Amino acid sequence: MTSEGVFGGRETMAESAGVHVREAVQVRGLTKHFGRGEQRVCALKAIDWDARPGELSMIVGPSGCGKTTLLSLIAGILDSDEGAVTIFGQEMSRLSDSARTRFRASRIGFIFQQYNLLPALTAAENAAIPLVIAGWRRDRALRRSSELLESLGMGGRLESLPSQLSGGQMQRVAIARALVHEPQLLVCDEPTAALDHETGLTVMNLLRDQAVRPDRAVVVVTHDNRVFHFGDRVTRMDDGAIVELVDRTRGAA
Ligand SMILES: Nc1ncnc2c1ncn2[C@@H]1O[C@H](COP(=O)(O)OP(=O)(O)O)[C@@H](O)[C@H]1O
Ligand SMILES: [Mg+2]
Repeated sequence: MTSEGVFGGRETMAESAGVHVREAVQVRGLTKHFGRGEQRVCALKAIDWDARPGELSMIVGPSGCGKTTLLSLIAGILDSDEGAVTIFGQEMSRLSDSARTRFRASRIGFIFQQYNLLPALTAAENAAIPLVIAGWRRDRALRRSSELLESLGMGGRLESLPSQLSGGQMQRVAIARALVHEPQLLVCDEPTAALDHETGLTVMNLLRDQAVRPDRAVVVVTHDNRVFHFGDRVTRMDDGAIVELVDRTRGAA
C-alpha cells in the first residue's frame, strides 16, 4: 500500500532546514460511524496516518470516501468512535474540552471550500479575527493581518468587504485568516473546489509558498485531481480506508 519515491527524491523543507523531523500529526486506529441501525455508515475504518512538519500532505479520493471526516477528527471538530489523534506530541483526547478548544484556536488554522468570511467585516478585519480572539489589540491585529494580506497580493483590497471580492480573493483572505496566528497545523478542506482552474492553481501555489514552513504541517483534502501534484505526500482514500500513499520526498527505493 506504500509506493515510495515514484516521482524521484525531493528533500523536505524541514530536512533542508536541519529541523528534527517528528510527526506533526499522528492518527492511529481512527474509526468513525454516522447514523444508527440500517442508516449506519462507517465513514472511517481504523485509519493510521501521519503528517510531517515542513510538508504539504494531500488527502485525495472520491466524494464520500471520508476525507472531510478524517480532517474534522484531526482538527478536533468531530470526536472519533475509536482511535487517537496526536498533534505535535499532544494526544487530543487527553485534553479537557476547554483545553482542546484553546489548543485548536492557537495551534490550528482552517481553510474551507466556502470561505466563511464575515460579510460585515473588511478583508483586513476578517483576517485579523484569530488575533482578536487571542486578545491582541485591534490596531496591532489589523497591522499584522494587513501585512500578511499584502504578502498574499491583497494589499489593494484591505478595506474591501467580502461581497466586493472575487472567489480567489476571498480565498486569499481565508488563507490570511488561517495563517495570521502562525498555527503549527494548517488544515484545508477542498480549498480550490469553488475556484476556476487557474485561480485554484494560484491558491495552491500561495499555500505552497506561504503556508509550508519547517515548523508547520499543511494538510489539504481535495477531490480535484488538477492539484494533486502540489502534495509532498499524497494519500489516496476510498470507502473510509487509505488505499495508497505516494511519498514524493523520498528518493527512488
Ligand atoms: N454528519 C453526517 N451524518 C451522516 N453521515 C455523514 C455525516 N458526515 C459524513 N457522513 C457520511 O460519511 C461518509 C464520508 O463523508 P465525508 O467525510 O464527508 O466524505 P468526503 O469528504 O470524502 O466527501 C459519507 O458516506 C457521508 O455520507
Ligand atoms: Mg468533503
